Amino acid sequence: MSGASPDAGAPGAAPGAAPATTGRGALAAGERVLLIDPKQRRYLIRLEPGGRFQTHAGILEHDDVIGAPEGCEALARRGDELAARRFLVLRPTLADLVLKMPRGAQVIYPKDLGAILLAADLFPGARVLEAGVGSGALSMAALRAGCVVTGYELREDFAATARSNVAALLGDEARYEVQLRDVYEGIDPGGFDRILLDLPEPWRVVPHAEVALVPGGILCCYLPGINQTAELRAALDKGSFGLAETSEVLRRTWYIEGRSVRPDHRMVAHTGFLTTARRILPRDG
Ligand SMILES: C[S@@+](CC[C@H](N)C(=O)[O-])C[C@H]1O[C@@H](n2cnc3c(N)ncnc32)[C@H](O)[C@@H]1O
Repeated sequence: MSGASPDAGAPGAAPGAAPATTGRGALAAGERVLLIDPKQRRYLIRLEPGGRFQTHAGILEHDDVIGAPEGCEALARRGDELAARRFLVLRPTLADLVLKMPRGAQVIYPKDLGAILLAADLFPGARVLEAGVGSGALSMAALRAGCVVTGYELREDFAATARSNVAALLGDEARYEVQLRDVYEGIDPGGFDRILLDLPEPWRVVPHAEVALVPGGILCCYLPGINQTAELRAALDKGSFGLAETSEVLRRTWYIEGRSVRPDHRMVAHTGFLTTARRILPRDG
């Protein structure tokens, strides 16, 4: 492995490659691991026998990590000399992967993915329709929650990225199918428990969602702008939906060292608005 910037994504994994974040025990060849340097810079690499990760501080041999326990430290060496650079080695979490994986479209940030899991009440075995799938970040969160996901995506390159990112996380076990199609034109009947939308004009999907969702099912839409959100809410009000709710997630981390305790200066504040609504049946008469 050659040198990589802290923000570099890991190479896309071939379907069937060893899944990440679910492993236990010693680190194995084929797994992805996160290397964290003393400045907290993170690098995602896939362990390969004989592989090398090159940094300006030296070379870290993958063979030094393969077979080692998670949470170990690995050294980057320059020549025979031991370089000062130490890396903490951990399996990446889902949030790590979402931020580091190859992207086509902009992903939903982990803070919002966490909120969507509960707002949309994603449960094991839930039949989920998701459009558009983009880079597959929301697909990964839903699949990890145990959902069966059918994705609609307009762009072939994004669909391929999403499939590859999902395969890299879950191997061949993911119950995931992505179809190349426009969700504005309709949704095949499927008795979906949940519909997840991250695309520019979700109000155009509301009439289709009314038919495709089971009664009581949840429509969950993610939108960057409040004007779009207002247009969506108006469409929901006119349709067979109730309990509509819109929120956003502001997550602030804190700096805590000794007696110095304060909010961090920087935070990812506004990313998007989350709107949920439940399909209800029209009243008789
Ligand atoms: C912001 S991205 C979705 C990112 C995704 N939620 C993730 O977390 O990786 C929006 C996606 O919607 C797709 N899209 C836009 N309009 C669409 C439509 N009418 N039908 C299906 N997909 C659509 C785009 O091609 C793009 O991939």
